[in-house]
Amino acid sequence: MKKEILVMQNDFLVVNLEEKYALFQEQWRPKIIAQMNDYHFKLVKVQGDFVWHRHADTDEVFIVQEGRLRIDLRERPPVWLNAGEMYVVPKGVEHKPYAEHEVKLLLVEPQGVLNTGEASSERTAPVDDWI
Ligand code: NI
Repeated sequence: MKKEILVMQNDFLVVNLEEKYALFQEQWRPKIIAQMNDYHFKLVKVQGDFVWHRHADTDEVFIVQEGRLRIDLRERPPVWLNAGEMYVVPKGVEHKPYAEHEVKLLLVEPQGVLNTGEASSERTAPVDDWI
C-alpha cells in the first residue's frame, strides 16, 4: 500500500507543504511527504530540546520553513537557522536541535534514518510515517 501511495505522490501529485503541515500537530515526529530515489523528504514540527545524537552513515539536511532553530554541535559553535535557511549536518557529527518556539522544518535524508541516530530513546520516531 505504501508503495502505491509513494508512486502516485512522486509521479502525479503536487505536494503542498502547508497542506501537509496542517495534517499533524505532534512534535518531533517526522512525516514523509516525498521520496527521491533512496531519499525521503520529511516534515517535522519541533519545540524544546531534542537528544544528542549522530548519524554514522549519512549527512542530514535541515531546511527551516517557519521559526528559528538552533542546532547544537559538539566542540564547535551552535548553528542558528531562520526561515528560508538550511544547513547540512555532516555525517558522524553529534548534534542536538533546539527551538524556543515551534519550528516547521523540512528534513532530507536517506530512507530508514532514525531521528535519534544511534541514541535510541522515547524520542525515537517511526521511519515510515507517510502523510
Ligand atoms: Ni539528526
